[in-house]
Amino acid sequence: MATDKAFKVGIIIGSRRVVRVGPQIASFVHDIIKNAEEKAASPRRTVTFDVVDLKAVDLPFFDEPGIPQRIQSADGYAHEHTRAWSRRVAALDAFVFVTPQRNWSFPAELKNALDFLFHEWAGKPAMIVSYGGHGGHQCAEQLRAVLRAMRVRVTEKSVGFAFPDPDFRTKCFNGQELGLDASNDAGPWAAQRSEVVSAWDELLIPEY
Ligand SMILES: Cc1cc2nc3c(=O)[nH]c(=O)nc-3n(C[C@H](O)[C@H](O)[C@H](O)COP(=O)(O)O)c2cc1C
Repeated sequence: MATDKAFKVGIIIGSRRVVRVGPQIASFVHDIIKNAEEKAASPRRTVTFDVVDLKAVDLPFFDEPGIPQRIQSADGYAHEHTRAWSRRVAALDAFVFVTPQRNWSFPAELKNALDFLFHEWAGKPAMIVSYGGHGGHQCAEQLRAVLRAMRVRVTEKSVGFAFPDPDFRTKCFNGQELGLDASNDAGPWAAQRSEVVSAWDELLIPEY
């Protein structure tokens, strides 16, 4: 049943590499979720999205003197960049992490952005979409472990987008246009769209 209060979802782009495909993949995931919400027979609640690009957030390496787990509000942080990051994440109700695999893990910039805060993440639901040569499953498992330690409620279902062929892989390496289109049944990763929707449906379960 729809409620008046909007459910605010952060779509976190986990890569801030100089050339990258993360924003395209996040946009693809965003479109899949928006399409699923539009098609839902009775929208469960109003959903709004905040696409969080860590490159634009531009945090330095962790530089807070305090332990985030002991800080309960934005005022408790020493630096304005942390207070701004705290306010942005605190305003969100759930997270969709879209992350590449790097050396079997997730990017350092994503770990850094997570480490800056604690209570702003904790207790909220999240789903993981990884990408890489074979779908980035090691990255997803590592991110899952970190999020669990931070008391984030990670969905059991996750999505791994594997690079389908060498040409596509090279485009990813170079940050080139991938031709992703959430409405094209014949496009790249069309078959994985249902997995995104399944994880999304799990994220929306109230106890999650
Ligand atoms: C330092 C580095 C390490 C990487 N390690 C892996 C890896 O372990 N497994 C994998 O499938 N891809 C790996 N890749 C390839 C990335 O998944 C690929 O370049 C992807 O496009 C990165 O996402 P981005 O373009 O959004 O930054 C690595 C890329 C870099 C730059």
